[in-house]
Amino acid sequence: MAEINFSSVLVTGANRGIGLELVKQLLGRPKPPQWVFATCRDPKGAGAQGCLAPIKRGPVVLFPAESTDEGSIKAAAQVAEAHLAGKGLTLLINNAGIMPPSTLDSMTQEDMLSVYHVNVVGPMEVTKAFLPMLMAAAQQSTEKGLSSSRAAVINISSIGGSIGNPPSFRMFPVIAYRCSKAALNMLTRCQALEYKARGILCAAIHPGWVKTDLGTDKPKALRLEQVLACSKGQAIHRSLWEAGS
Ligand SMILES: NC(=O)c1ccc[n+]([C@@H]2O[C@H](COP(=O)([O-])OP(=O)(O)OC[C@H]3O[C@@H](n4cnc5c(N)ncnc54)[C@H](OP(=O)(O)O)[C@@H]3O)[C@@H](O)[C@H]2O)c1
Repeated sequence: MAEINFSSVLVTGANRGIGLELVKQLLGRPKPPQWVFATCRDPKGAGAQGCLAPIKRGPVVLFPAESTDEGSIKAAAQVAEAHLAGKGLTLLINNAGIMPPSTLDSMTQEDMLSVYHVNVVGPMEVTKAFLPMLMAAAQQSTEKGLSSSRAAVINISSIGGSIGNPPSFRMFPVIAYRCSKAALNMLTRCQALEYKARGILCAAIHPGWVKTDLGTDKPKALRLEQVLACSKGQAIHRSLWEAGS
């Protein structure tokens, strides 16, 4: 894989699971980013403090962002902007997400809308709020073309939202989650089409089955390179759409 360099990264839902692991691996890189912004709903809570305390020594800034609260997202953008001081945000990883149980029989309007709010509206609002910083990074970069080393939005999606290649329905009957991830894929497609001209790569990825509160019991290591491997140029779009996501 070509070397990826980014000077600043923001990860949502960074207090546990995949988000926390991404932050750890970003900080553990031989050349860590200058800024790693880690957002979560309750940075002062015991969970966030316990998980993030060991990595606080690095260039990590932890602050709140609630995906369903526009004011909270705007406030988060202001915190990042103050630290970046005009330098721009290289990489935004929209990771926060939920997967409550929901079957076709049990699901209510509220269930569907609340999952959609976190998994689709959240990434849409977060990306809008950080767009000026992503554009600044794209403009200031010496990189040509689209690249996560220049400016990128990575939406953490799921194969569960795939229309062309869906996992077995019986194995994975979380209807609201699956619909929300299909919508996130289309949001990503629209973002990619719109932001390409501004030098921003937009991609949705399935991280694989990872052992987290949301994920499977089967242990599997997550590598940052896996998540970002396909963040170079247009290849991501090809592989994603070929996979049917
Ligand atoms: N694990 C897998 O196998 C797998 C597979 C495919 C895709 N994914 C995707 O990967 C992403 C991360 O999943 P995970 O497995 O790491 O799940 P997780 O361990 O349950 O972590 C979810 C994260 O999202 C945050 N979050 C939930 N609701 C939020 C809200 N309203 N506003 C802000 N943050 C919120 C949680 O914060 P709190 O602690 O405050 O709840 C937590 O930090 C999700 O988008 C998921 O769909 C995971």
